[in-house]
Amino acid sequence: MFSDLIERVREASDIVSIIGERVALKKRGKNYIGLCPFHQEKTPSFTVSPDKQLFYCFGCQQGGDVFKFVELWEKTDFKGALEILAERAGIPLSSQDPREQKRYRERQSLYKILALAARFYHHIFLNLPPGKAARDYCQRRGIDRETSEKFMLGCALPGWDNLIRFFAKRGYKAEELVKAGLVLPGRRGGYYDRFRNRLIFPIWDQRGRVVAFGGRVLDDSQPKYLNSPESTIYSKGKNLYGLHLAAGAIREQGWVLVVEGYLDALTAHQYGWPNVVASLGTALTHEQARLLSRYCRRVLIAYDADTAGQEATLRSFRLLKEAGCQVAVVPLPQGSDPDSYLRAEGAAAFGQLLEKALPPVEYRLKMLQDQLDLSTLEGKMQATNSLVPLLAETDNQVERELLVKKVAGALEVSEASLWAEIRQYRGRKGKRGREGDRIPGKRYNIDRDFHNPPKKPGITPAYLRAQEALLTFCLHDQEAREIIVKELSWQQFTAGAHREVARALWLAHEEGQFTPAGVLARLENTEAKALLSRLSLQDETILEQKERSIRDCLVVVKRQQLLEEIKVLQEQIISLEGEGKSTDKANLLIELIEDKQKQLHRLE
Ligand code: CTP
Ligand code: MN
Repeated sequence: MFSDLIERVREASDIVSIIGERVALKKRGKNYIGLCPFHQEKTPSFTVSPDKQLFYCFGCQQGGDVFKFVELWEKTDFKGALEILAERAGIPLSSQDPREQKRYRERQSLYKILALAARFYHHIFLNLPPGKAARDYCQRRGIDRETSEKFMLGCALPGWDNLIRFFAKRGYKAEELVKAGLVLPGRRGGYYDRFRNRLIFPIWDQRGRVVAFGGRVLDDSQPKYLNSPESTIYSKGKNLYGLHLAAGAIREQGWVLVVEGYLDALTAHQYGWPNVVASLGTALTHEQARLLSRYCRRVLIAYDADTAGQEATLRSFRLLKEAGCQVAVVPLPQGSDPDSYLRAEGAAAFGQLLEKALPPVEYRLKMLQDQLDLSTLEGKMQATNSLVPLLAETDNQVERELLVKKVAGALEVSEASLWAEIRQYRGRKGKRGREGDRIPGKRYNIDRDFHNPPKKPGITPAYLRAQEALLTFCLHDQEAREIIVKELSWQQFTAGAHREVARALWLAHEEGQFTPAGVLARLENTEAKALLSRLSLQDETILEQKERSIRDCLVVVKRQQLLEEIKVLQEQIISLEGEGKSTDKANLLIELIEDKQKQLHRLE
């Protein structure tokens, strides 16, 4: 029963999505790779296999299944990982804590209500005659049918209680709808719909569950947007609009474009940029920056060129850098946003604009050139003060030198004085502890890293390599598995972890239920789990010339075993001689040795 539950949770927890929500992954052949979150590295050796549902880091040798990943990430045990994944999958675990149960049920009920409401609004938008006002509005703004379906656009009709009545027919009370943020209590009793006569944008979390709504007026009246209040399932600053739709493209392309508004996001998707999300409002938050850093390392920002947009852009630099991302700003002309620019200039022009995205220092310099009189001393000083922190925080030395040259030229100050300012700034920072040195996107476990430093790959003896190769064949190829299982027993694997993996493999094979994750579930030892994951994700070019390699490996393993046995027999003879005991026994041992030597001969 319990293991049944574990399997259900496992099935509902795709390892690429789960890891992908936390680590920026890139497709590489059949697998995904990324920077290992469990040790510091600059080139990715962290591999995730969608087929095998396993991960392995070739750098620090941690690996396992989706549960193991969550254990390591959340620093919890198996039970904790199970709870987290079950909750994510909406599979109830009978928790002992009644308050916990209540909260869980409430959240599930919110998700259900919001999903139904989204379908209600969308149905009106697509199919009903009174939805025409919203459809016409979208048409005027150039949103096509495909885009409105992709973003599940909806229509809230003008009346006061359309939604209340729809839900009442399905047995929902107004109080529940109030909790979901869809309905408000009237001043003199009664209830009314929050969203009326508006175009509705459902807002999803990164897993694609509807968690809130935004509603736009269909004309120029105020307020332009109404939004759902925050709730136990929705928190504005932690969410990015469209992320669940964009996630795959962001990962594939390795960069994301962040825009401000719903319509910017929709239009960008429609014009061929599926890797766009909107921060809905202005400044990016710390949580949003961290969320993005799980998907990619390169972030382009295309906020409105107005003052608020510029301020928001500036604030996002630090946050994104702290989250480990590289930033550049798309130089939109004054007065336009991505939506209006795309409509006016087209996709090709927008593409060129993206190419011209400016790194933080250059963006700031351009802003200052527009705002200040840089020919005055006053202007130069103000500009220097504002650029020095950005220069000091530019990590790449070559880049920093080029930027210093450029800034010095633009401000007409000497490079030397700029360098002096930078050094002074760094000194001040140093005393307070450099924030830039911490990357909150990564989690370090000092204790763990101290006690288990990543192992250096040592020299592995040939017979162990052969054993590993055989296990790898078994994992990747059924035909090979059948040959090897017939030729060897799992006891013939010598090292502890190898033997445990072999045992699990042989058992799974005998029971005819062979999947790498199934084999993994039989393992207890962490080292064995890591070994299995590594072997499962190993480069499959090993499968070329399979038959010859298997034969070679079998020979090596068997040979090693015979040599070991001969050595044991020889030691027995020596100790017999030492004790001066019967020669009969010694003769028998000699026969045995000869027999083994013959076998050895035949092998070779
Ligand atoms: N916003 C909001 N409430 C407002 C105005 C704006 O919540 N009263 C949020 C919305 O999420 C909006 C974003 O800020 O999408 C950007 O605002 P703005 O640029 O004014 O709106 P657009 O999305 O560009 O909408 P439109 O093009 O229709 O004016
Ligand atoms: Mn706009």
